[in-house]
Amino acid sequence: MADPILKWAGGKRQILPRILDHFKDEDDYESYHEPFFGGGAVFFRETHEDAATVNDINPRLVNFYRVLQKDVPGLLDELDKLRQRMPDDDPNSEWDHDEKDQHDREIKNYYYQVRALFNKRPNNQDYDKTREAAMFLWLNRTCFNGLYRENRSGEFNVPIGNHKSLGLDMDSKLQEASNALSGVEILCEDFGYILDKAEEDDLVYFDPPYDPQSSSSSFVEYTSESFGKDEQRRLSDVALELDERGVNVVISNAPSVTDLYETDRMANFDYSEIGARRAINSDGDSRGEVEEVIITNIDKEDRRSQHTHIPDYN
Ligand SMILES: C[S@@+](CC[C@H](N)C(=O)[O-])C[C@H]1O[C@@H](n2cnc3c(N)ncnc32)[C@H](O)[C@@H]1O
Repeated sequence: MADPILKWAGGKRQILPRILDHFKDEDDYESYHEPFFGGGAVFFRETHEDAATVNDINPRLVNFYRVLQKDVPGLLDELDKLRQRMPDDDPNSEWDHDEKDQHDREIKNYYYQVRALFNKRPNNQDYDKTREAAMFLWLNRTCFNGLYRENRSGEFNVPIGNHKSLGLDMDSKLQEASNALSGVEILCEDFGYILDKAEEDDLVYFDPPYDPQSSSSSFVEYTSESFGKDEQRRLSDVALELDERGVNVVISNAPSVTDLYETDRMANFDYSEIGARRAINSDGDSRGEVEEVIITNIDKEDRRSQHTHIPDYN
């Protein structure tokens, strides 16, 4: 078990216990796969003696995890270089207004320089993967809300967030996450790859991007490609094929996709609704609305919730 390293939109920390309720116990399935990895909140929560594949279509995210898996010292070296070149992030309390302003501007400029450098990499065949991974982590922790968003040319375009986190002190967390990834195949494919990898009695957890029209949450673009209704339908086809092979499937998704799983062909699947994650909502009317569904082909009596107490995860 480790802590997730990245902040990731759609991350599942808050509803982790509800998701894990639908899993089988670890001894009751073979290998584990996570085709929409993102921040990996579910993966890192488990021990996974037999994790087989994790996957994401975002190549920079995947590069980060591959470097994290193989070379924590190299990653830390590159992070140190980023920190050393950064304007001192320890504002002097004696500074007057102009000096504070000047300091803020320097920090901001530095952020945008790193972002511009990061955005040059995909077109440069000789780029240094470890340095890119360090920039990816640094930008993720310093940009606005840990968002990952790209413009149509595939450039990361999120503005600076709270630069208090620029310090990044996470050496032991990186090592723990690296250990958790040891022996895991980290892929950068469309989720359909799973049909070549998952075998009978494996468990596959899918956490796709949510449909644009879904729930009160706004759609999040993780890459310059988007994930719409056709992709959701394709996901249900893949889930069905896995089911026919005897693979355990758990999917977290937006309520708007449930019609895809209510048809006769998907009779082995059922779903549970999960209420709004935010107890306090500025829009009082949407309090208590269903925000997520968990869809699975695992029989109720085989689910972990039937025999294990799953503690909340903070
Ligand atoms: C909801 S997020 C996953 C969040 C993750 N469970 C967590 O805890 O952080 C969905 C992820 O799917 C990835 N993705 C989008 N389209 C994909 C596709 N066709 N195949 C594989 N991954 C895809 C995105 O890059 C994004 O990281």
